[in-house]
Amino acid sequence: MTSCACTGRSFAEVAYRMLRDRLSAAEAEGLTGCGSICTACIPDLRTFLGRRARPLTRVPKERMP
Ligand code: FES
Repeated sequence: MTSCACTGRSFAEVAYRMLRDRLSAAEAEGLTGCGSICTACIPDLRTFLGRRARPLTRVPKERMP
């Protein structure tokens, strides 16, 4: 699973919001709504964010779209 079926948002969007807005995973999840409805995506979302956190934090903020 690479997106939240209930909200239609991709996990990449959650990771992007974390980096762009300097949010914690919980804050980004709360803002996007991912994981807040049926909660089925939470395990995959947490795995995705854990894998993405390190490389994404190295992207300079001014280079973000
Ligand atoms: S699939 Fe993400 S809350 Fe239901």
